[in-house]
Amino acid sequence: MERRSFEERFNAQLPNSKILYNRALQVLPSGVTHDARYLAPFPPYIARASGSKKWDVDGNEYVDYWMGHGALLLGHAHPKLVQAVQEQVAKGTHLGGCHELEIRWAELISQLMPAAEKVRFVGSGTEATHLAMRLARAFTGRTKTIKFAGHFHGWHDAVTGAVVEPDEDPAPGVLRSSVEATISLPPNDVVLVEDAIKEDGDVAAVIVEPGGGSWGTIPTTAEFLRELRRVTADNEVVLIFDEVVTGFRLAPGGAQEYYGVVPDLVCLAKVVAGGLPGGAVAGRREIMELLEFKDDLDWNRRRKIPHQGTFNANPLSAAAGVAVLEEVAKGDCIRQANGLCGQLADGMNEVLQQAGIPGQVYVLGSMFHIALEVEPADADYKRLVELAKGPKASELRRAMLLEGVDLMRNGGFLSAAHTAEDIDKTIEAFAKILTSNRRMDR
Ligand SMILES: Cc1ncc(COP(=O)(O)O)c(C=O)c1O
Repeated sequence: MERRSFEERFNAQLPNSKILYNRALQVLPSGVTHDARYLAPFPPYIARASGSKKWDVDGNEYVDYWMGHGALLLGHAHPKLVQAVQEQVAKGTHLGGCHELEIRWAELISQLMPAAEKVRFVGSGTEATHLAMRLARAFTGRTKTIKFAGHFHGWHDAVTGAVVEPDEDPAPGVLRSSVEATISLPPNDVVLVEDAIKEDGDVAAVIVEPGGGSWGTIPTTAEFLRELRRVTADNEVVLIFDEVVTGFRLAPGGAQEYYGVVPDLVCLAKVVAGGLPGGAVAGRREIMELLEFKDDLDWNRRRKIPHQGTFNANPLSAAAGVAVLEEVAKGDCIRQANGLCGQLADGMNEVLQQAGIPGQVYVLGSMFHIALEVEPADADYKRLVELAKGPKASELRRAMLLEGVDLMRNGGFLSAAHTAEDIDKTIEAFAKILTSNRRMDR
């Protein structure tokens, strides 16, 4: 690899992105619209995307492993999705009323997911976890939610504490009282969960990313999930699976099908809306009933949970969601993406082995993470999160970008549109970067 700095290489290879970034800095904080898109010296500006690829404003082509932050299981601009959205856009983008597609959308979720007896649509994954936690509090009459350090559930106040450290201070501006209603525990230890439920006496829910914290960065086990199910059921605590990422990636029925553990409530977003904005909470009939109107004034005024949202079940998102879930139901797209992800990890692990570099590329379904320097099975969860979000991950991402591969943090998401050539290109780029780093280290 050339010894020129990343800045020089970015300036040379992405000049138009730099121009756009300087413009963005005038109107957008740090020039970005999502913290994860921040990248020094500046991010690539993407002009268009198709299948597994995207192209920036300088015409550079990338194999894309962001896949819409995990939302695009079928790849960019899948023809069935494009057709469904085009048909709907001409019929109206917001119908200001109920429509048939929302029923079809909910029917598909309910058919696919074991836990989904009833469905309520929301605008995003953040909204889904926010509503699920409120449902659990109303159902149990208790206040607190247990979450796990390193598990991400969006950006509303109650889940923003303890993203990594259980006793982390809340982020600036976050209501301390909201964070105090969340008990944060280290991941994967069910004894701690049982003790906390018993000692506190006011726990309404346990929320978990069933595939492991931060889309599998901190791996979990089926045994942990089974035990979590047992402990929550024994103590009448609502078990919430945050399947915003695992939903429709691990299996047509999500993590609950994959691990064989059925939660009380499930939070969905990303794939469920086919790459358009949207999300849902689904779950047990008697909990979801708290959203229902009844022929009872007192219930409607005092016991029903009020819930609004201008863009709930927006027809465009519904059209996209239906198109994608109909593909998900067949299962082929999941198998295809999972298979390719396995091949990618095998190839990258071979590179590490041949270069004598410690570390491992590890996989969950169609998601992969690159842990350099450590064996994930032996590593502390904090170390895994640090490797995924720290400066080394940014450095690898920058180097891979310059080779035409866009990683999300230290890994990414595969889609059914990725190809064997994409995998070969990625492995080659990875090998080139690691071996040139080695030479530079000497
Ligand atoms: C597991 C999980 N839950 C919730 C969210 C929040 O979803 P959204 O970004 O749609 O608000 C995310 C987003 O990445 C997520 O990964």
